[in-house]
Amino acid sequence: MTVSVSGVVAAAKGAPVQVVEVIVPDPGPGEALVRVQACGVCHTDLHYKMGGIGNDYPYLLGHEAAGIVEAVGDNVTEVQPGDFVILNWRAVCGQCRACSRGRPWYCFATHNATQKMTLADGTPLSPALGIGAFAEKTLVAAGQCTKVNPAIDPATAGLLGCGVMAGIGAAINTGGVSRGDSVAVIGCGGVGDGAILGARLAGAKTIIAVDIDDRKLAWAREFGATHVVNSRAVDVVESIRLLTDGFGADVVIEAIGRPETYQQAFFARDLAGVVVLVGVPTPEMRLDLPLLEVFGRGGALKSSWYGDCLPSRDFPMLVDLHLDGRLPLEKFVSEKIALGDVEAAFAKMEHGEVLRSVVLL
Ligand SMILES: NC(=O)c1ccc[n+]([C@@H]2O[C@H](COP(=O)([O-])OP(=O)(O)OC[C@H]3O[C@@H](n4cnc5c(N)ncnc54)[C@H](O)[C@@H]3O)[C@@H](O)[C@H]2O)c1
Ligand SMILES: [Zn+2]
Ligand SMILES: [Zn+2]
Repeated sequence: MTVSVSGVVAAAKGAPVQVVEVIVPDPGPGEALVRVQACGVCHTDLHYKMGGIGNDYPYLLGHEAAGIVEAVGDNVTEVQPGDFVILNWRAVCGQCRACSRGRPWYCFATHNATQKMTLADGTPLSPALGIGAFAEKTLVAAGQCTKVNPAIDPATAGLLGCGVMAGIGAAINTGGVSRGDSVAVIGCGGVGDGAILGARLAGAKTIIAVDIDDRKLAWAREFGATHVVNSRAVDVVESIRLLTDGFGADVVIEAIGRPETYQQAFFARDLAGVVVLVGVPTPEMRLDLPLLEVFGRGGALKSSWYGDCLPSRDFPMLVDLHLDGRLPLEKFVSEKIALGDVEAAFAKMEHGEVLRSVVLL
């Protein structure tokens, strides 16, 4: 049995995305069919559309989603029909080298578990990040479903499935931000503001938001930035140094994915500080740094995949903090839109008009 649903597909590099018919098979062993309720528009979806991630067109876009499990295949113990879940792109397998060494946040074994959805003519679809949730229903590995408290608004919950989790985790898990730290975040979209929220949750004293757009900086303040820097107007490295008593920040988080902003992050941290790259670069980008400075400044240059999160540990915890009134995740939802509005949402994202547009299904 299969079902036919509407989904948002990027057919070719750079081509406008379109709502088309998508064929979704029944869940096989270890799989779950999920009725998607909400799915955020992330910059990574735009990267897919523009060819920045791969060339496996057609892509079924969408990956920041929450919904209800509708059916499960054989051997599924994690979830059952009726469960409210956030979809994750890190289904921990428990068996690969990373998992068996106790580092499950590096597990990618089941990341792309399902490639079974097709266009009406049978052409296989590549689901974005192994999810493909700009669709009324999607088929995922059961481990990609993380059960959380259903009291949360699905539009808010879905954002924990990618960008917001990536940001919060970049600060808390990868950057190891701690009480009293100074933190700078370069790029204040959904991911960067997640990092600001994470830094505040971890007890950072100084949180410096850097962006080229004053609207983004105003939002960053609402998430907990104590200072803002418009890098179109002033020198970023100098500004961060001045705001940190001349030292530089303990942790600098780059949430754009560009060489020039990575260089700013590198030079804006204190000696022995930490740089976290959570922005995703494109294949042609190159980085030029004086090797002596890499040595002489010490510290750590880290990348953060998905905020080094463990969905089973972090999603329910963050949802509960939100429901407790301690984590204003709802502020990330700038607008609620329909499936047909994704292309327009990309334009709004590029023009800085939104933090997250969320598709409701
Ligand atoms: N590592 C991960 O696991 C992970 C997960 C999700 C997203 N991402 C990546 O994180 C990045 C950010 O995603 P997003 O959804 O927040 O994007 P976004 O477009 O919403 O935000 C980017 C922000 O950067 C700002 N910006 C652009 N150029 C700048 C510059 N030169 N200096 C300062 N600010 C600048 C923009 O004004 C915008 O506010 C993307 O590269 C995305 O692919 C990574
Ligand atoms: Zn594994
Ligand atoms: Zn994303």
